Amino acid sequence: QTKMILDLDTGVDDALAIAYALGSPEIELIGITGTYGNVLMEQGVHNSLAILDLLGHPEVPVFRGIDHSRTTSGFEVLEISAFIHGKNGIGDVEIPPSPRTADPRSAADFIIESVHTYGKDLVYVPTGPLANLAAAIERDPSIKTKIGNVVLMGGALTVPGNVNPFTEANISQDPEAAHLVFTSGIPTVMVGLDVTLQTLLTYKETARWRDLQTAAGVFLADMTDYYIKAYETTAPHLGGCGLHDPLAVGVAVDPSLVGTHAINLMCETEGPSRGRTIGDPARLNDPKKNTEVCLTVDVNRFLHEFMSRITGLATR
Ligand code: BDR
Ligand code: CA
Repeated sequence: QTKMILDLDTGVDDALAIAYALGSPEIELIGITGTYGNVLMEQGVHNSLAILDLLGHPEVPVFRGIDHSRTTSGFEVLEISAFIHGKNGIGDVEIPPSPRTADPRSAADFIIESVHTYGKDLVYVPTGPLANLAAAIERDPSIKTKIGNVVLMGGALTVPGNVNPFTEANISQDPEAAHLVFTSGIPTVMVGLDVTLQTLLTYKETARWRDLQTAAGVFLADMTDYYIKAYETTAPHLGGCGLHDPLAVGVAVDPSLVGTHAINLMCETEGPSRGRTIGDPARLNDPKKNTEVCLTVDVNRFLHEFMSRITGLATR
């Protein structure tokens, strides 16, 4: 059974990614590492612990990670994020705080330890800035050849960004970390806006969770409705909210959900297009490609898996 680590800036779609992972019997969620972005790192860790408890999995450890990039304080985007994810990151829905605390080990140390323990059986799924993985690579470069796979939510190759025309939110928070990861030689799958803006959720689906009349179902519905409402203002043409982070988990569990293009990527770190994920001119002709960029997705099959896995989990 594949072991999975989720690396989250626990906002609404990150929370849905937790639910998707817990509802997937193909993988075992062995830990959640915390990063900053939608919320401050500490709030994200608090959210992850509470959500794991609410969804019936208090055995999964949560680790504190990097709380800002080399060039930011972690506070920069909180106002915009609060509009999309709520001030607390989970649609301003209140759930009981976990009696647990974070594991004393750091996110980077847990990643390194897990790579050495599980090797190719480990899949690491970051759905926030790539700061923790970059820190782990810097601390122990030997993990580059040992880690199984990295399936990341972030970036955009064939569509514009969502922060500005060049850059997507997760990558924009720490372009240096993204560049380090893309040029590290680690096999990565990029689940970016190319595909995540095709997989949309509406009030129709959240109503099904609410109708379950369980604490988990009502929480997931109320939290996600906040996010759908934000999308109605920021991207009304879409007709729903983007299932960014759960799609990364979906692809990590079942790569056949997407069609990919193999390319050696880099991330621009200078100038107006800082944060852009783009082909690396120096390695374009290298026959060995490190990144598979998802360009097509079987939307209906993914939505079916998403709903059945999460509904199954929230029914209990
Ligand atoms: C990404 O940015 C965050 O707001 C979401 O959680 C997702 O990971 C989408 O660009
Ligand atoms: Ca996220």
